[in-house]
Amino acid sequence: MKLERVAGPGPALNVPSFVRHPRLIAWIAGVVALTRPDQVHWCDGSDAEYRDLCAQLVSAGTLLPLNPEARPGSFLARSDPSDVARVEDRTYICSEREDDAGPTNNWMPPTRMKVTLNQLFDGCMQGRTLYVVPFSMGPIGSPISHIGIELTDSPYVAVSMRVMTRMGDAALRALGTDGTFVPCLHSVGMPLAPGQADVPWPCNKDHKYIVHFPEEHAIWSFGSGYGGNALLGKKCFALRIASSMARDQGWLAEHMLILGVESPSGSKSYVAAAFPSACGKTNFAMLIPPPAFDGWKVTTVGDDIAWIKPDAQGRLRAINPEFGFFGVAPGTSHQSNPNAMLTMRENGIFTNVALTEDGDVWWEGMTDTPPQRLTDWQGQAWTPDCGRKAAHPNARFTVPASQCPSIDAAWQEPAGVPISAFIFGGRRSTTMPLVLESFNWTHGVYLAATMGSETTAAATGKVGEVRHDPFAMLPFCGYHVGDYFSHWLRLRQQLTRPPRIFCVNWFRRGDDGKFLWPGYGENMRILAWIVGRCEGSAPAVESALGWMPPETAIEWDGAPDRARADFAAAMAIERDEWTTELTSHQLLFDRIGSKLPAEFQLQRQLLLAGFQGAADHWRLP
Ligand code: OXD
Ligand code: MN
Repeated sequence: MKLERVAGPGPALNVPSFVRHPRLIAWIAGVVALTRPDQVHWCDGSDAEYRDLCAQLVSAGTLLPLNPEARPGSFLARSDPSDVARVEDRTYICSEREDDAGPTNNWMPPTRMKVTLNQLFDGCMQGRTLYVVPFSMGPIGSPISHIGIELTDSPYVAVSMRVMTRMGDAALRALGTDGTFVPCLHSVGMPLAPGQADVPWPCNKDHKYIVHFPEEHAIWSFGSGYGGNALLGKKCFALRIASSMARDQGWLAEHMLILGVESPSGSKSYVAAAFPSACGKTNFAMLIPPPAFDGWKVTTVGDDIAWIKPDAQGRLRAINPEFGFFGVAPGTSHQSNPNAMLTMRENGIFTNVALTEDGDVWWEGMTDTPPQRLTDWQGQAWTPDCGRKAAHPNARFTVPASQCPSIDAAWQEPAGVPISAFIFGGRRSTTMPLVLESFNWTHGVYLAATMGSETTAAATGKVGEVRHDPFAMLPFCGYHVGDYFSHWLRLRQQLTRPPRIFCVNWFRRGDDGKFLWPGYGENMRILAWIVGRCEGSAPAVESALGWMPPETAIEWDGAPDRARADFAAAMAIERDEWTTELTSHQLLFDRIGSKLPAEFQLQRQLLLAGFQGAADHWRLP
């Protein structure tokens, strides 16, 4: 990456003596010359450093220590109210050619964007420390892992990166003298003049840019200190940049959780599942089977991102490139996700949640009855009748994955885990059945490509609208989405045992507006059928949309009464809804244009033909 502005007098670079990587040092020197921080700190990733940085953040008012009895080693952060979520409209893919970014990404020519960024970054770290944050996405040394270096002026980002990635000296050492790394440059975009007091959550209210240069594998992020905008290993590297690396190198970087299912006989299968943001991915990844599934175990490899590569035998193997969970807090409770609650019992950073009178955290959905008095996410006094939410809907917990009671024994396995099934699910009140299995790989890729979901609070924008979210990658695919579909279709040729592909919808509602499926741990009943299909033991019925479980193929022992009574409605196929749905697929295809794989028009025609002359309402026999 070229920086226009070069050296001059500035702070010492403080390069650790073991670092002999000229390209890395030159890049950092260039960034220091451009951004002009007061000092440079190389993060070693040690416990002592984490403690020191947290103490410094407490002094600055960014972190508030929580009650050490209730929540040991944990902190609350309150962001600026304008900096609470990913900013998709400020996120860019700056490939050389606009056509490589495609219709689902914002694009600007790299040279023009660099002019803008160089102006914004000029002196933007004055009065601050630049932290050099070396990190590995994935176990260090794994053939699926990659290394990044984030340069940031936010100590909140530095401590969060220590939770979310394998951060510190070990990642730096793995680079040797010439190793490849993804340069990730981040600034909150609020320089301090001499003597100017800082604010607890610095950010730039006027300018935010989350920018990716896929040809250079480089990331520049300006103006936000929050989550996916600032922890650059996550959405920016592990999805947007990695997806474009994966296309070039024949693998997949996906917005998927990975879980293991162990049956009483001891057989074990792993599945990877893609859901849009805030659709219960963390809950599904940490599912606890209901009592009827005595002897079954669900284990967690990852809750958000999967890097997946074909192995020498033609099987897909997956790693979770992350090291922690950055989960949506509201709605998480001992009922909905006991494993997540136990994971965050200590050593957590909670952002934009409410504070209880005894110094613990609370959010909507944590308990049925809210506490009588709280301090809300903006630091205001809160009571249940005040008419405001106590926690921001996109409030987050940041916790080490190793603390998860359901963490899989192989979650750090460098070779990854073998994937038997892909599951795709959106949040749909209507139309999409509870579960179906695709007829084949191409049909499955079509279903994943055309999936839609009602929008949530994880990104700024309108909540509740259905938007197409292909593979749950709409905000995360770092290149043309039509090329991405072709990449998925082509990958089949490298596989001797391709995973089966399934769609689920936990969110369908009945005429009374109530959910038709209870969700949470009850999803095990559907997961068991999916695993049974992969093992060749579960029966299925053919429908116009795919293979479906007959009611008798589901374990109903101990299920809530309504679940079984509503099963037929949850699985129903309504012809009118699907006529509308298939029209919306065409609108998506029109947007994608000439890069749409030819197979998709054929698949759409096949589906349309299946509905011609079909009954208005199709029910499982
Ligand atoms: C996330 C998201 O933060 O998908 O995981 O928005
Ligand atoms: Mn996500």
